[in-house]
Amino acid sequence: MASSSLFFVLLLFLISAGSQSQGSFLKLQIFRQTPSVDLHQALRADAVRHNSISSSPLVSAAISGSGQYLVHFKVGTPAQTIALVADTGSDLVWVRCSACRTRPCFLRHPLGSVFFPRASASFAPFHCYDSHCRLVPPDITTASHLKCNRSGEGPARLHTPCHYRYSYADLSSSSGFFSHDSATVENAVSGIPVKFSSVAFGCGFRNSGPSFSSGVGAHGVMGLGRGPTSFPSQLGNNFGNVFSYCLKDYTISPPPISYLLIGGDVRQHQQQHSRRHQFSRTYNESFHHLSFTPLLNSALSPSFYYVGVESVTVDGNPLTIEPSVFALDNTTGSGGTVLDSGTTLSFLPEVAYRQILAEMERIVRLPRVSIGAAGTGSGDPDPANPSPAFDLCVNVTGLGGKQLPRLGLKFRGGAMYSPPPRNYFVEAGDGVRCLALQPVAPSKSDSGFGVLGNLMQQGFLFVFDRDQNRVGFSRTGCTS
Ligand SMILES: *[C@@H]1O[C@H](CO)[C@@H](O)[C@H](O)[C@H]1NC(C)=O
Ligand SMILES: *[C@@H]1O[C@H](CO)[C@@H](O)[C@H](O)[C@H]1NC(C)=O
Ligand SMILES: *[C@@H]1O[C@H](CO)[C@@H](O)[C@H](O)[C@H]1NC(C)=O
Repeated sequence: MASSSLFFVLLLFLISAGSQSQGSFLKLQIFRQTPSVDLHQALRADAVRHNSISSSPLVSAAISGSGQYLVHFKVGTPAQTIALVADTGSDLVWVRCSACRTRPCFLRHPLGSVFFPRASASFAPFHCYDSHCRLVPPDITTASHLKCNRSGEGPARLHTPCHYRYSYADLSSSSGFFSHDSATVENAVSGIPVKFSSVAFGCGFRNSGPSFSSGVGAHGVMGLGRGPTSFPSQLGNNFGNVFSYCLKDYTISPPPISYLLIGGDVRQHQQQHSRRHQFSRTYNESFHHLSFTPLLNSALSPSFYYVGVESVTVDGNPLTIEPSVFALDNTTGSGGTVLDSGTTLSFLPEVAYRQILAEMERIVRLPRVSIGAAGTGSGDPDPANPSPAFDLCVNVTGLGGKQLPRLGLKFRGGAMYSPPPRNYFVEAGDGVRCLALQPVAPSKSDSGFGVLGNLMQQGFLFVFDRDQNRVGFSRTGCTS
């Protein structure tokens, strides 16, 4: 396919970045803007995504809300640092851009909230006739793509930059110039910054929709998806085509530190058992404890990291759910389950959700709390757009030392994922926890799919082994 040859062109373009040895890796610190998650806001944001999922093929997940994990992206010469949402549900890397050219203008924006291309000596937009421009959706509102062709002459050919417009499932979008500039990422072993002479990203001059309204905290997105423009696709081939992260529970005090790591050859690391730095050794050892499940492909949404859920247990007892409920139809793209760091809650097929809920309701003998009631402490509901509710919220003050029921997901290949209850019984107020799962109705458009969001992934090392088409996870890899 044409896209794979373009992918190759892009990689060649990036390899000039520096001769990093295979098995080396890079790290970017992960953090959250606000330590706690506003469950109401998360629910509203995530639900919007699922109401608008009819827009297939799906470009990307929505990425709004307080429950986002951010990374610091250092771009330009000299480097400017911008906080981006780390999103496995989309491909494009983009930053909010400003056309400012003077210092007083720069100072009008809070530090780190916007990228100033004119302050970078190495920034340049791709031209519309550059092959890279075919990697991003054109901005059809500017009609510039119509003016641009290889045989074209005159000003259009000389001056028309590559206009992109990238849309998210909640109808948020970013548009601007698809560009390239240097980027700086720290080598995880040596601690020395590695400068990439050219990383491709969107310079977003017009960004709109719920994901990018002010106050959310992100000033762009670091797409970590499977497509050619994503950050690991661009950098990963120099570093083993693997990336990994630990999303930690930032309500813990003091807030833990964790990293997005790009690279690290899983096989090589298993053999090396290095005598190198402690960080490297700890990281390598955590690879021994990984359970793997294959990544599945959907022709319709090739950017997503689909995994196969085969069965569900509650406190070790399997629920009787037909495996077909979870099946991914890889030709129509319907069904399946996506690992998505950009969604906060988790979504399961309606049939599975109802059974889990019923089992939880049967086992949990705690006073029920209506989430609409006082004490939840969060955002005022918008009467025009009533926020959907959680089906099971309980008062846990009487729980004592007892645990809430343990949910287990059995993945294809036999790997068992058993997150602690805090990953799906999420605090919604003082002493109140809600089952942070939502049903996905087999929708009108037939493209509903399950999502394992970032709360569900908390406290586990997740390794996306893109070369071997598998994802590994481990409860013990998240300590350092
Ligand atoms: C490309 O540009 C040339 C010269 O301006 C023009 O003749 C041709 O029709 C254009 N092709 C397309 C597909 O627009
Ligand atoms: C679709 O699924 C089938 C059966 O699991 C598999 O053999 C095939 O390779 C898949 N197709 C794609 C495009 O991944
Ligand atoms: C939870 O239970 C405790 C003890 O019974 C009670 O004091 C508290 O008000 C309850 N909280 C809510 C939100 O109902």
